[in-house]
Amino acid sequence: METVWPIEGHTKAKHRILRGYLDAWLPIMSQHNGRLVYVDGFAGPGIYAGGEPGSPIIALKAFLEHKYRERIASELVYVFIEENKERVESLREEVRKLGELPPNVKIEIDFGTYEGDFRSDPRPTRGRRQEPRAYFCLRRSIRIRASEHEVVRAIPSVQ
Ligand SMILES: C[S@@+](CC[C@H](N)C(=O)[O-])C[C@H]1O[C@@H](n2cnc3c(N)ncnc32)[C@H](O)[C@@H]1O
Repeated sequence: METVWPIEGHTKAKHRILRGYLDAWLPIMSQHNGRLVYVDGFAGPGIYAGGEPGSPIIALKAFLEHKYRERIASELVYVFIEENKERVESLREEVRKLGELPPNVKIEIDFGTYEGDFRSDPRPTRGRRQEPRAYFCLRRSIRIRASEHEVVRAIPSVQ
């Protein structure tokens, strides 16, 4: 099984939707939540064969490059789960390439399965139930039989 692979059109569309959604979700949810927890349960290697970023890097950049970044003061907990060891290593490297991260950003990269690591025992909630938080959970990718253009056109907010 290859560690990285060429990106497909439906994945590009998914990434554009994800980025557009997080661009809105982060500032809105941070207004009333001291902690935002983002879980990518099928994280992948963080990069595609052509150098395109994977969903974990897109999610991190949604904050790092956000025009209102200074106003997003919540603790941002990113949990990335991936069951393939080489892809976990690749993802760690891609995260390292982002350089030093702001102190409110916490990243946990888990070598394991979504079912075993998160769904049955949601780590970010353990012992912290009293803290205000909001969750965003990205799960198994949905196969959409449409071109990138068709998918994006169907969702006006990301055009
Ligand atoms: C479609 S790829 C990841 C794409 C990535 N989320 C993105 O959009 O860039 C799905 C990944 O999930 C991993 N995977 C498959 N089953 C898994 C499971 N049960 N738990 C965690 N990772 C899993 C695969 O090894 C693969 O790297």
